Amino acid sequence: MDNLDRRAFLGITGAAAGATLAGMGVKATTPRGSTSLAPGDDHRGVACISSGNGRPATAKAFEMVMAGRDPIDAVVAGVNIVESDPDDMSVGYGGLPNEEGVVQLDSCCMHGPTHKAGAVACIEDIKNPASVALLVLKRTDHVMIVGEGAKRFALAHGFEAENLLTDRARRAWLRWKENANPNDDWLDADQMDFDPNENREDAAGPIPFTYGTINCSGVNENGDLASVTTTSGLSYKIPGRVGDSPIVGAGMFVDNAVGAAGATGRGEAVIQNCGAFSIVREMENGLSPTEACLAVMKRIADRTRQKRLLNERGEPNFGVTLYALRKDGAYGSAVMRGRGQFAVTTSAGTRREACMALYE
Ligand code: GLY
Repeated sequence: MDNLDRRAFLGITGAAAGATLAGMGVKATTPRGSTSLAPGDDHRGVACISSGNGRPATAKAFEMVMAGRDPIDAVVAGVNIVESDPDDMSVGYGGLPNEEGVVQLDSCCMHGPTHKAGAVACIEDIKNPASVALLVLKRTDHVMIVGEGAKRFALAHGFEAENLLTDRARRAWLRWKENANPNDDWLDADQMDFDPNENREDAAGPIPFTYGTINCSGVNENGDLASVTTTSGLSYKIPGRVGDSPIVGAGMFVDNAVGAAGATGRGEAVIQNCGAFSIVREMENGLSPTEACLAVMKRIADRTRQKRLLNERGEPNFGVTLYALRKDGAYGSAVMRGRGQFAVTTSAGTRREACMALYE
C-alpha cells in the first residue's frame, strides 16, 4: 500500500483531512488557510516537544540541541528538571507512590542515530531514572534493567539513594489508603468520630491520582532524533506494576529515518496498542504528526472492549495523550478527550499548544 492509498484507507486525504477524519469519528477541523490539522504539522527545523508539564524540559533540551549537544543528552537533561521537581506528583521525586507507599519509577529513552534504547523499571530511591536509562543505553549491551538490579546499577554509577516520598505525596497516599476500603481497619473520612482533616494540610478536595508522565522528544538541524519518557506511573499501583513509560515502542519510540513519538496516560492501553511505535509507522506511511497521533488514538479507542473502561457512549473513559515529532521538525499531539495541551520549543520560543482531541 503506498502512502496515498494508506491515507485513503484511513480516510485522510490532504486538504480534506479534517473532514475525512470526521468520517472516522474523529472530530478534527483544518485551521483556516491551512491544509494541516494543526500548526505544528507545518513547522520545519529544530524542535523539542513534550507533555504539557514539560515546558522547562523542552526549553532546556532546545537550548542544548542548539548548542550542538546530542539530542539524547538534551532531552534527558530536560526531563531531569521535572523529575527533580517535588511539586510534580507524576514523575520522579514527589511522585505518588504504589499501594504500599513506595515510589517506584519507570523510564526509557532512545537515540535515533544509533537506534539504541535504554530503560529502567520499578527503580526505587533514585530521583532521575531517565539518566539511569541513558546509562543503560550508553554503557551496557542491555536495553532494560529492573527493580533492585536497576538501583544497584545506578549506585554503581554514583547516583545517591534518597527517600523520594515527599510529605505531600505521603499524605495523599495515606488519604487514599484510609478511604480505599470501608471494611478495613483504616477508618474512611465519613467513619471517623473526629475531624478527618485534623492536623492535616491539603486534606480537603479529591485525593490526587495520576497516570501522569513526561515524554520529551527532540530533533536537531541534521534531522537526528531522540526521545525519553519518565514517570512514577499509576498512583497507588500494585507493587511491581510496570506501565508503558519504560517500554520501548509503547511509551516512546524513535526511528531516525522517520520521527519520534511518545505517550502519557493509561499505560495499559498504550502497551496493548504499541502506541509510540504505531505513531512512527503512521508517519512513515505518510500521515502528518497530528494525523498519526489521531489515527493511533482512534485505534486505541476502537480496541477498548472492556465495559468498565467505556462510558455510556461506548468511548474510552480513560485519558491518553500522544505526541509525535517528524524528522523534518513537524510535530503534533492528540488527546483522547477534551482540551489537552503539550509543550513545544522552537526558534519561536517555548509555549503550550492545543492537542487535537479525538472526542469533545
Ligand atoms: N503512562 C504512565 C503509566 O501508565 O504508568
